[in-house]
Amino acid sequence: MARTATLARSVALFRVFLREQTEPDLFYDALARDSVEQLADHVPLSGATVLDVGGGPGYFAQRFREAGATYVGLEPDAGEMVARGVPEPGTVRGSGEALPVLSGSVDVCYSSNVLEHVRRPWVFAAEMVRVTKPGGTVYLSFTPWWSPHGGHETGPWHYLGGYRARRRYRRRHGHEPKNRFGESLFAVSVGSALRWARRCPDVELLASYPRYHPWWARWVVRVPLVREVASWNLVLVMRRR
Ligand SMILES: C[S@@+](CC[C@H](N)C(=O)[O-])C[C@H]1O[C@@H](n2cnc3c(N)ncnc32)[C@H](O)[C@@H]1O
Repeated sequence: MARTATLARSVALFRVFLREQTEPDLFYDALARDSVEQLADHVPLSGATVLDVGGGPGYFAQRFREAGATYVGLEPDAGEMVARGVPEPGTVRGSGEALPVLSGSVDVCYSSNVLEHVRRPWVFAAEMVRVTKPGGTVYLSFTPWWSPHGGHETGPWHYLGGYRARRRYRRRHGHEPKNRFGESLFAVSVGSALRWARRCPDVELLASYPRYHPWWARWVVRVPLVREVASWNLVLVMRRR
């Protein structure tokens, strides 16, 4: 992926992102293909057991299976599980903050765009580490709060405060946003994620980079403050000690 993370790939991802609301399957399949390719850069997926924490209706299941992995989705929300009809076979219902999974049992613990929806993000991250086998891989990606998309559908007003952005959305649309600040959306920063990963005694941080950027823009993650806004989405790749 470092080689294939070109500007053309970033533009293509951005284009499908703009169609997320109208053509979700198109968007999620493109994201799934890209994610599997990105992860395969760090760990061979063939024969690996992958736990996808907060996998929703299993958008990524097919692409992981095509790569030869045994895919297990985990999702707390029954509505999300059936968002595409029948739930993905083998999906476990549970929370990432208390994974109903044995310690040291999966080769790859994967989570995409979930951390910012969790009240206790570092409990969630520690649970991902716990269930990963020694030598296994933890892949954690999320949208940082100060990213232009940090407020999700309430953005860019989140720059003026999460609760204020939520209230504004409610006034404008007559209903709550799907992602409610303080309930299902929380402020997680790039700096705090990097500090957590570096201090966690059970993992070695192998890589941290902006998920959707071309390879030559990865430097933004090394610059405090700039990285909070310019990363858009942060990936942490860790090896379980
Ligand atoms: C934005 S969706 C991401 C879905 C998918 N992983 C992706 O990348 O497209 C966030 C998902 O996280 C789930 N979620 C929220 N809190 C969670 C928790 N404590 N543990 C696991 N998943 C959670 C939500 O139900 C939702 O399905």
